[in-house]
Amino acid sequence: MQKKEHTFIYEIYDSVEELNQQDAQLLNMAKAVTKDAYAPYSHFHVGAAALLQNGKTVTGTNQENASFPAGICAERTLLSTASSLYPGMPIETLAISYDNDNGPSDHPIAPCGICRQSLQEFEQRTARPIRLIMGGLQGKIYILPQTSLLLPFAFTGNELG
Ligand code: THU
Repeated sequence: MQKKEHTFIYEIYDSVEELNQQDAQLLNMAKAVTKDAYAPYSHFHVGAAALLQNGKTVTGTNQENASFPAGICAERTLLSTASSLYPGMPIETLAISYDNDNGPSDHPIAPCGICRQSLQEFEQRTARPIRLIMGGLQGKIYILPQTSLLLPFAFTGNELG
């Protein structure tokens, strides 16, 4: 029998003032686009902004539907937009933020399980890790070097042969 430990390191910042200018701009962009979310059911407005390897930025927001499962998260909206506008272009950094009509936005939120799966495959197919910045409208900010750290033992297309 063997035991293995799986750990990762992430950074914690007290506020946006502590971030470098590029990261601060991206997080501010994610905060700004929360207003474009269509979230009449959850009232939870998520914004995502990404800096691509070609220097372009793209954004995404959650888009809900009366048939709840038809809704899509901000992160996957962003991935679809990035892939459609700039096919195959890696994402260097992704920032996510949120505005919650029913509560404060004072701590980071992490991508949901389905988005982790999509982010993992995006990283794999573009052969580049996506740095992830997570922050509320206020409060601490977390930065992870790679989104796939959030999905250990991921199921990937490699299994399909
Ligand atoms: N949501 C996102 O857009 N991203 C996440 O990572 C978590 C959840 C959305 C989905 C839904 O529209 C609302 O937030 C509440 O779950």
